[in-house]
Amino acid sequence: MPRALLLENIDPVAAELLGAAGYEVESLRGALDEADLTAALDGVDVLGIRSKTQVTAEVLRARPGLAAIGAFCIGTNQIDLATAAAGGVAVFNAPYSNTRSVVEMALAEIICLARRLVDRDRALHAGSWDKSAAGSHEVRGRTLGIVGYGNIGSQLSVLAEALGMRVLFHDLEEKLALGNAQPCDSLEELLERSETVTLHVDGRAGNAGMFGAEQFSRMPRRSLFLNLSRGFVVDHEALRAHVLSGHIAGAAVDVFPEEPREQGDPFTSVLRGLPNVILTPHIGGSTQEAQHDIGRFVAGKLVDYTATGTTNLSVNLPTVALHGSSVARFALLHRNVPGVLARVDALIGEHGLNVDGQVLATRGELGYAVTDVSGPLPADLLAALETLPEAVRLTTFARRER
Ligand SMILES: NC(=O)c1ccc[n+]([C@@H]2O[C@H](COP(=O)([O-])OP(=O)(O)OC[C@H]3O[C@@H](n4cnc5c(N)ncnc54)[C@H](O)[C@@H]3O)[C@@H](O)[C@H]2O)c1
Repeated sequence: MPRALLLENIDPVAAELLGAAGYEVESLRGALDEADLTAALDGVDVLGIRSKTQVTAEVLRARPGLAAIGAFCIGTNQIDLATAAAGGVAVFNAPYSNTRSVVEMALAEIICLARRLVDRDRALHAGSWDKSAAGSHEVRGRTLGIVGYGNIGSQLSVLAEALGMRVLFHDLEEKLALGNAQPCDSLEELLERSETVTLHVDGRAGNAGMFGAEQFSRMPRRSLFLNLSRGFVVDHEALRAHVLSGHIAGAAVDVFPEEPREQGDPFTSVLRGLPNVILTPHIGGSTQEAQHDIGRFVAGKLVDYTATGTTNLSVNLPTVALHGSSVARFALLHRNVPGVLARVDALIGEHGLNVDGQVLATRGELGYAVTDVSGPLPADLLAALETLPEAVRLTTFARRER
């Protein structure tokens, strides 16, 4: 029976799905350090983690039998992806599972900022009845500028239009404009035309500090600003100065250049205590629905990979999308050098087998060839494939009845 180890309190749906696929599942609430993780991985086929468990090169080298790792989150920085790939360990994550959660929070914050709800709430909790329409606006008819029109930015575009907002967007890549959204050729153009600007760019190094005094100054006076993307993208001193001067009428910030590591650790920021500024502890994607969807999505990837060899959406292996096979199937992860496929096919032919189907994908130094053959796989064929000098990992898959 294959074994799965799930750490860090992963949503129970993951254990259910793996169990239904025939895994013996052990679930632990916390993360494990390097030594404990290495010990716990003895005999484990599939590991599930979230962001706290570090899967280092040492752990991976100590446990060469591990087949796959599920990162039940978005980021995969906690895993040594290169060493995992070199050892033939597939890594999967959940890139889209919390998109909707971030979008809903951004929408809620856009309305809260436009109505200055946070300040009204604080005042009333402090016993001050401050009923006034000054500085309060409907969002209908206002212009929202979305910087980064990817998964989150484009979905926000659709929902913001449903509220009656006009949507502009700017992306480094050519993107299909949804609904009536209009692309802007430059960030500058977007900033000058938007009353509310929201950042949804990715974490590429070039985005460090991309939004500072120059960008805030370009926005119309009394405009609103949101960042739910990455902390290092925004110069917080510049944001503070523009809020205090009144140029920026309100801001919502969910991500910070430095974030406390542990629950309860102190939080420092120059943005604390500013009027009409919403600060949240990186919770844009943190909903029970997102956690459930992450559990379902990543467990599904692990089950599919170990059952069929499909590497679709793997973050570190060449990707091929496959269904179950009704004939015999093997997958050879190998060094991406000329002639490997020809040698594989020659070995198959020498054993009198016919190739039923074959796909090859490459990624950097690795190639991944999946072959369906008519008939059982002879042990000496598998031994010959496994000992090819370019072989990294050979996996065979159970046939499924049509
Ligand atoms: N706050 C949270 O809890 C939370 C949750 C999930 C994702 N995120 C973050 O939200 C961001 C967006 O996520 P996504 O899934 O939409 O990513 P994505 O990769 O689908 O989209 C990012 C888009 O930004 C564009 N882009 C990158 N740099 C740009 C720049 N300088 N100017 C204009 N466009 C630029 C890219 O071309 C891409 O279209 C990421 O940084 C992600 O880490 C935050």
